[in-house]
Amino acid sequence: MRRSALVVVAHRLPVDDSVAPDGACEWRRSPGGLVSALHPILRKSPATWVGWAGQAGAARQVPDLDGVHMHSLPLDADDIAEHYEGFANSTLWPLYHDAVEQPVYHRRWWEAYQRINQRYAEAAAAMAEPGAVVWVQDYHLQLVPGILRALRPDLTIGFFMHVPFPPPELFMQLPRRAELLRGILGADLVGFQRAQAAHNFAQLAVKVLGLQASDRRIAVGDRIVRVGAFPVSIDTADMCSLATSGPVVARARQLRSDLGDPRHVILSVDRMDYTKGIEQRLKAYSELLDSGQVKVRDTVMVQVVVPNRERVEHNRALRERVEREVGRINGEYGRVGEPAIHYLNQPFDRAELAALYRVADIMAVTPLRDGMNLVAKEYVASRVDDSGALVLSEFAGAAAEFTQAYLCNPHDLDGLKAVLMHAMRAGPDDVEDRMRAMRGHLRVHDIRAWARAYLLALDRTGSLAARLTID
Ligand code: F6P
Repeated sequence: MRRSALVVVAHRLPVDDSVAPDGACEWRRSPGGLVSALHPILRKSPATWVGWAGQAGAARQVPDLDGVHMHSLPLDADDIAEHYEGFANSTLWPLYHDAVEQPVYHRRWWEAYQRINQRYAEAAAAMAEPGAVVWVQDYHLQLVPGILRALRPDLTIGFFMHVPFPPPELFMQLPRRAELLRGILGADLVGFQRAQAAHNFAQLAVKVLGLQASDRRIAVGDRIVRVGAFPVSIDTADMCSLATSGPVVARARQLRSDLGDPRHVILSVDRMDYTKGIEQRLKAYSELLDSGQVKVRDTVMVQVVVPNRERVEHNRALRERVEREVGRINGEYGRVGEPAIHYLNQPFDRAELAALYRVADIMAVTPLRDGMNLVAKEYVASRVDDSGALVLSEFAGAAAEFTQAYLCNPHDLDGLKAVLMHAMRAGPDDVEDRMRAMRGHLRVHDIRAWARAYLLALDRTGSLAARLTID
């Protein structure tokens, strides 16, 4: 078996399959995300990625990707129902997002969570060479660092939480809270998106496990676990070059004309998820139409919703409510050939999204709670002429970095309406100053800077830098 100096463990492999015209299965790198972040490091180090290839049943053979070995783990229908849709996405996901929907607790989901975490940890242990670095990703795999440390004390283990980490009063609801905390504390470095999440975690280590902790260091037996904020980002340069490519520019022009050349295009792009604040946004928009502050021919809203986790009950119910409301708004305020809201519920490719970003005079990113929100960052990266107003929820991780956005509280409908109107009425100088500042930040704080900062922090002794070619 091939062993690696760096092993990334994530619920999914960073690939999507598609069927080629001749019927053969083709694997493509998933857009954005971790793999592009790690690409420069993975390419030069013997690396393995452990994850699921995205279909129930036996493990699928996935070819190496840019020299990175893809180790595919099998998940059957019960594993997916109980671990992914159950404990990960119906217990942890709502709880970690401020319980905006009621978290559901089932003991058999916890058993599945343990079983699947054990499987990922064993695979990582088998793939890691002596003294390797293993970097575990996200809320699906919080027990992996602890299991891995017991199996392979020689490893350096990192853990990064992509979603928010809740305050103690919410986390304390979890029936298996102590085990989850101990699982994460198997890591040498625990990374979060925001400093507040690191603070919540350290407080819980004290409260639940009686450990000595500051927001940066937690003493676990004779080990020190370090904790910190490492806000994730996007491949800024790649997004810029896509947004300025000929086909995207032409497509943006076409889209604007298809939308009727309105004065304002407001865009939102979300996964179908109740944390994204889609209903609140629609309500605010509907009230703006109702009061006449926004007029249909003058302003067009485009709401893209990408289908996701459709078997999670809360999301199924959300889709019904959203579609009913869009129908009502279009019925009441639209005209023939001029809907108030262009609603699209379908997967989108990156080029089409980039064209939409270029068309959007106002981008409304208004989640109720979000670990980061990379859509906000993609929008900023694509606004190469410094135009475009970002309306951003204070409850998205991105708000900690994009302080120049038009910030809003999406729970406050009148406030949200006022911020949308402010963004629509803002003068070009104000819009440009804000966008320029955000773009400047994003140029420096891109996904590579994120991966580098995390791995260098993990590399306390400096020995990994040479092994992993972190330059
Ligand atoms: O935000 C957490 C996250 O797991 C992202 O990493 C991912 O892009 C998104 O949610 C959707 O994930 P999935 O389709 O695997 O549930």
